Amino acid sequence: MTSPLDWIREAAATREVAGLTRRLATTKSGDGLDLAGNDYLGLRTHPAVIAGAVAATETYGTGAGASRLVTGTLDVHDELEAALADLTGAPSALVLSSGYAANLAALTTLADAGTLVVSDEHAHASLIDGCRLARAAVSVSRHNDVEHVAELLGRREVPRAVVVAESIYSVLGDAAPVEDLIALTAEAGAILVIDEAHALGVVGPRGGGLVAAAGQSGAEHVIVTGTLSKSFAAQGGTVMASPVVREHLVNTARPFVYDTGLAPAAAGAALAALEVLRDHPELTVRLHSNAARLAAACGVDAPAGGVMSVEMPGPFEAVEAVERARAHGIRIGCFRPPSTPDGTSRLRLTAHADHTEHDLDRACEVLAELTGSRG
Ligand SMILES: Cc1ncc(COP(=O)(O)O)c(C=O)c1O
Repeated sequence: MTSPLDWIREAAATREVAGLTRRLATTKSGDGLDLAGNDYLGLRTHPAVIAGAVAATETYGTGAGASRLVTGTLDVHDELEAALADLTGAPSALVLSSGYAANLAALTTLADAGTLVVSDEHAHASLIDGCRLARAAVSVSRHNDVEHVAELLGRREVPRAVVVAESIYSVLGDAAPVEDLIALTAEAGAILVIDEAHALGVVGPRGGGLVAAAGQSGAEHVIVTGTLSKSFAAQGGTVMASPVVREHLVNTARPFVYDTGLAPAAAGAALAALEVLRDHPELTVRLHSNAARLAAACGVDAPAGGVMSVEMPGPFEAVEAVERARAHGIRIGCFRPPSTPDGTSRLRLTAHADHTEHDLDRACEVLAELTGSRG
């Protein structure tokens, strides 16, 4: 007797044979040294950030209770949006319930069937899904290849164009040619949607990201998206742009209009994290020096931000390295197809500002052994 779920079992068996099964591993408190997560500044357990979450919960309750357009816009959202705009120099900011939702909101409202989207081949899944939902024609550009972006834009036969990139790439950890993309899109009359999820709090002036570093935060055609779940140690996402774009999103972005407002605890925590970052710029300096040490141990170049990518021979080797690191009390991540568009398998490691000298000594020893960069 066949079951309507048979095809799902077959798909699972195919994944298993190819070494591509994803498995949930529950992280326990104090469960090894974290070189896999995205808490770049180490603020998730910072007393001031926890106090920010608690204070917002005590003031507003545990949930926003409704869409931002109904009763779900709280003072803490307004304060958080002002603080994000202050950090990046963006003219205005809007917060949503995740970075994923922020990318869906930006792309579904800025692109449509009359838009050509040119998207970098390493763009995050949330950007890809935003393009799909926008029903736009999508051309995929070679990674960080501005000439290819220009060539694809030149072939456009529809009225509008949007270029999609990340400023620091989530898997490869490299930086986009941000200034060139901003100049190219300005010249081509296109919008640039640039995801700074792995750049905010990590690079640029005061951790304001690479658009701020390029002095282009006020450029009207540049729309920055980001998450509150990485450097800002909370949950939620943001779109930062000119007030006209913010207003457009408030009125038309389905992931904003039809979604309950960001939970007060997340907003309060992110706001407090932004304050800690403002008062402690040395956190980003420490993050970079920790990243340089870990990169050297793995035999790769120091990364642009906090993400290091180490190519492995295949998916089984990548998973084995993750398991061996875990046995040493060290958490590292790996990416395998289909998460890697070029079909490679990679270890993904992240540096954190709060790792101690002792943590780093221990991690470097294990990483050098795992990646074969020593002896
Ligand atoms: C580049 C990028 N954009 C967006 C997201 C989604 O953000 P969130 O986790 O807040 O939904 C992530 C990762 O989580 C990411 O790496």
